Amino acid sequence: MAVGSVSKAAEAASRSEKVPEFGVFINGRWVKSSSRDWIETRAPATGRLLARFANGNREDVVKAVAAAEAAFPKWSATPAPIRGEILLRAAQILRARKAELGHLVSEEMGKALREGSGDVQEAIDFFEYIAGEGRRMLGETTPCELPNKIAMTFRRPMGVVGCITPWNFPVAIPSWKIGAALISGCTIVFKPASITPLCAARLVEVLAEAGVPPGVLNMVTGPGSSVGSEIASNPKIRAVSFTGGTSAGRDVYMRAAALLKPVELELGGKNPQIVMDDADIELAIEGALWGAFGTAGQRCTATSRLIVHEKVYATVMKRLIERTKKLRLGDPTDPKVDVGPVSSDEQLKTVMGYIEVGKREASLVCGGSRATGPGLDKGFFIEPTIFETKHGTRISKEEIFGPVLAVIKVNDFEEAVAVANDVEYGLSSSIYTRDVNRAFRAIEQLDVGITYINAPTIGAEVHLPFGGTKNTGNGGREAGTSAIDEFTEIKTVFVDYSGTLQRAQIDVD
Ligand code: UN1
Repeated sequence: MAVGSVSKAAEAASRSEKVPEFGVFINGRWVKSSSRDWIETRAPATGRLLARFANGNREDVVKAVAAAEAAFPKWSATPAPIRGEILLRAAQILRARKAELGHLVSEEMGKALREGSGDVQEAIDFFEYIAGEGRRMLGETTPCELPNKIAMTFRRPMGVVGCITPWNFPVAIPSWKIGAALISGCTIVFKPASITPLCAARLVEVLAEAGVPPGVLNMVTGPGSSVGSEIASNPKIRAVSFTGGTSAGRDVYMRAAALLKPVELELGGKNPQIVMDDADIELAIEGALWGAFGTAGQRCTATSRLIVHEKVYATVMKRLIERTKKLRLGDPTDPKVDVGPVSSDEQLKTVMGYIEVGKREASLVCGGSRATGPGLDKGFFIEPTIFETKHGTRISKEEIFGPVLAVIKVNDFEEAVAVANDVEYGLSSSIYTRDVNRAFRAIEQLDVGITYINAPTIGAEVHLPFGGTKNTGNGGREAGTSAIDEFTEIKTVFVDYSGTLQRAQIDVD
């Protein structure tokens, strides 16, 4: 995960520019951080300074934890349907402000305007969905092995929880975690990514306006090495939900493991789209373009490999390259633009580094350079890039997180599935075929958390579980019916109304 630019010199030089300044959000208010460093958040398309945030530290987390702990008894005792009403109000506020916040997402993170609105829409959808969970929170009731005795389960909130989120869905992903934690009755210390803190701040303000009481949701901006690691290792934080890079996720998991603290991880992907010889080729190309270059390839679910049957390979490549060259690159807040910049200088360097690797080990057939020219020079723009490669190269196996697609030719379905599965990640996948038997075999054999049939690898909906296999995570799923699992514990209850001592496993003759 990249961090915002922080330096004393830069601070001195640009503090004269008037932009909103934020400390940390603790106990329902923006307060000063004890750190005197700042994070500057800038539009990746233009370099425009949008806001300054405290570059918070461990002390801020400790204060946020104290506020969250103090708020926990009352919040967890608030009936879940009432907590749900607050989330419904938050959804209403987001809906009313969707255009403004969508524009902010687009400007601060760099995704195309309609995708910025989509990011906000995903938060609205999730809050509406999870608000209803307040009227479910289902447990089990089941017979006992003894007479005049019943058994049941209840869900109880974990307590104070930590939510650590990435920059690629700066409103949606925090909403998945915060919404699920709130409906569960948890109180929260939230650390957003350092390059999209303004989106996070606006979301926190919307939730406060909707009625989330002071102390229930606290936000601390700052580095993973201090703020993130304190969230992982603070014993009063009882669970952590993390979405981001694999190495940062592993670090959080290892710190938390020392305290036996549950951690939910959503990490990388190297998502394949398979195109079989019987596919609707135009539809498959449409899907690949959207999956690979939407959000400039910066989705965990982005299509980064196109695995194509040899019989249709030449046609697919020709059409794919033609269509890719027509994509309009530019300031993402311009509604005519298809592909915005990558989100930061650091991201630009990483992606360009991979493109250089690709040029050495594979053959470049489209793009391959930093994009320059009118309207592009101040931003982190990269041309949508396509490589033809054999399976096994670095660009065919490592997560790039940018507008780079590796195309691999295969002989048949079996090889396609073998190639698709031979990576360390297992988040999303897709197959284009008209053969229903093949589609179901793919559903069975692709070792991933999400499979699409005749649709791109991106576009997960909030009422279904989201997550992956292998190094994509540690087995948990966000959203959907499993959304509250990471924020609740199960209490098993036995009620004996026999008036006698009944000994389970003993009095059963
Ligand atoms: C992510 O890529 O980090 O599947 C989340 C999608 C989104 C969620 C992606 N709805 O494209």
